[in-house]
Parts: sequence; structure tokens; C-alpha cells
Amino acid sequence: MMSKSCGKRGAACAAGAMFTCLAVLLVSAQRRAAVPAAEEAPSARDAGMRALQSLDTARAPGDRRRDESRAGQAGGGGGGGGGFSAYFSKLARGRREVRSPEEEEARGRATAEPPPAEDIGASDVFVAVKTTKKFHQSRLELLLRTWISRNVQETYVFTDGEDEELKKNIGSHAVNTNCSAAHSRQALSCKMAVEYDKFIETGKKWFCHVDDDNYVNMRALVKLLSLYAHTQDVYIGKPSLDRPIEATERLGDNKMRPVNFWFATGGAGFCVSRGLALKMSPWASGGHFMNTAERIRLPDDCTVGYIVESVLGVRLIRSNLFHSHLENLQQVSTTELHKQVTLSYGMFENKRNIINVKGAFSLEEDPSRFKSVHCLLYPDTPWCPSQVAY
Ligand SMILES: *[C@@H]1O[C@H](CO)[C@@H](O)[C@H](O)[C@H]1NC(C)=O
Repeated sequence: MMSKSCGKRGAACAAGAMFTCLAVLLVSAQRRAAVPAAEEAPSARDAGMRALQSLDTARAPGDRRRDESRAGQAGGGGGGGGGFSAYFSKLARGRREVRSPEEEEARGRATAEPPPAEDIGASDVFVAVKTTKKFHQSRLELLLRTWISRNVQETYVFTDGEDEELKKNIGSHAVNTNCSAAHSRQALSCKMAVEYDKFIETGKKWFCHVDDDNYVNMRALVKLLSLYAHTQDVYIGKPSLDRPIEATERLGDNKMRPVNFWFATGGAGFCVSRGLALKMSPWASGGHFMNTAERIRLPDDCTVGYIVESVLGVRLIRSNLFHSHLENLQQVSTTELHKQVTLSYGMFENKRNIINVKGAFSLEEDPSRFKSVHCLLYPDTPWCPSQVAY
């Protein structure tokens, strides 16, 4: 299993080979062992429950590649050995750093105060949701019932298989990329390439990418993006590492060059202004994105960072309003929930990693908490209890 997974990912695996693949094995074994009985209950008919369950049998899109990026860093050139504890303590440290309350407050002030640079609405935003056919029922259904139902016009779902139900639901906004359903670097880049081309075609002002375990708060997203002009160079999201990723650029005729750059983790979601997206075109449009990804042998979100930072010299704007399941979601402030741009849910170190929100639904009814969040943000939703005291 290990060698198969390494083999598929080819040379990118070599740097932290043992480490990465072992980490993947270890984490999935832990998860299998630690599935609480409640999550196997037959009452799991509801979309939210299935969404959480999907995490036990398969990892979210991008998990492995993020581990790979982190592992490449934490392990240095070393690989195995003391790698695990270093890896996990690094994750823990990352979470603490990201979630320091002072910083949060400072950032809150920083994002609350500047006046808007541009008056935009939700219709100016293009949100690409990356998924795979296997998760249409378990994950996508929850998103369709919650945030996507309020943002059908701006949201496009990029998947890898035909689904008549999905087509009935969102029509041409369900895009079959015809990319492989494998979780390979190439398959992920293939989807990002289709997302990019579709965005350019729509003429919208902002490109945003999220995973199928993200809740998108469109009001907060519009508010954040309106701080910037879409004609300027803007790349905004949350870095998944605490320092730039170190990669090797292959320059043809067997020449290599080390490159360092920041990238926004795809698992938390990120956005790119149209101005910047158009500049990315020579490296991102048509088939070019996959060629670029091959040049540095890194996954899709890293490749976006490479094009923006290394090729175009534009800096990532860090935002703490984007959240992935690889951070401690309990630390997301309950009183600031409405300000968060994206949320997520998952399993981390054997525990449910979910945001702390009291609300319309119990943990059993709403294990991801997305339904409760949705009722908080959109209390007029028909399936939300009418009088809920938060
Ligand atoms: C995928 O293949 C179908 C059938 O050939 C085609 O209609 C569709 O346009 C393709 N999708 C993309 C994104 O190219």
C-alpha cells in the first residue's frame, strides 16, 4: 500500500517518502480504530451524518498532499525516524500560532476597519467546489442543502463523474471535468485547470476555490473581497505552513532550481482577483496549469502559490477567516462565527474536529455543525427551527 501510493506520486514522494506515506497510513489506521460507535448508528440517514462518516473511510481531497507538503518541511531531508512526533507537534504548534486570540483580535480590527475598495455583490464571485463522485452523496449533499442553496448562481461544482441528480439540482453548474478520480497530483491539477478556465469564461471578478468539506459564508466572503479592487493583484487565503514551502523548479535541459514561496491551503479555500488571474494565464489556462504543476511536482494549491509568488512576484495576503479541517476548529470564536469566510469539519488526532456552535441541531443531528451554522446565518431557511435561542 505504501509503495503503491508512493509510486503513483512519483518523484514528489522521494523527498519525504517514508515519512509521508507512513503518516498517511498511521492517521488512517488511527481513524479506523477510533470511530465512535455513534457514528456507525443506523440513524445516519441524514446528509450531515454521512458527511462526517465519509471521513472515516477516505480522506478529504487534498489531505495527503497537504501532509506531503508539511512532511517535506517537518522532516527536512530526513524522512522517517522521529518524524511522526515532529510532524504532529508541528501541526499542533501551527494550530496554536494560527489561533492566538491577540492575533485574532488584531486581525479582526485590521479587517473591520478599512473602507471597501470596491462595491461588489455575491454575483461578482465565482466559487469553485472541488469534489469527486464518491463524495456526491456524503459531502456535497450537505453543502447543497446549506450554503450552496443560497448561492447557486455563483457556485460551480467540479467533479469527475456524471450525476443526473446533481445536474437536475444545479444544471450546468455541475461540471464534469473528465479528470481522473484518483487522488493523484495530476488529477487534482487537472480539476484546478478546468476551474480556472471556467472562471475566465464567466467574466466574474473573483475566483475562489474551496473543498467539499468547506462551508462558505458568502456575506463574509463578499465583505472581505470588497476590501480589494478586483483589477489589482490579489491572492488571499490561509497559509498551511509556518514558512515558505521549498520546492525545486525544473527548467528543462535537466536544470533544476530551488524555489521558496507561500501558498494558501486549498483545504481552507482561497481567492484570486480577476486582474491576477489574467496575468496567470500563460501558466494556468488551457493545459498549461498541469504543465506548470509538473514543473515543480507539487499539488494544485501549491502550484497556484508558485505561479502567483514565484513566477509573478505577487505576495499572498494572509487571512485568518479561512478554516480547514487541519486546524483546531474548536478555537474558532463562537461570537465571531458570522465573520468567518470558510469553515470545515473533520477528524483530527482521533477526535471530531468541529466548530463550537450551539444551535438548532444536536451533535447527532448535525455532526459537521454546518446545518446549525446555516440556521444561524439564514434563520429564514424552511427547515430551520423557527424560534431558537442562541
Ligand atoms: C467531458 O466530456 C464530455 C463528453 O465528452 C464533454 O461534453 C464535456 O465538455 C467534457 N468536460 C470538459 C470540462 O471538458
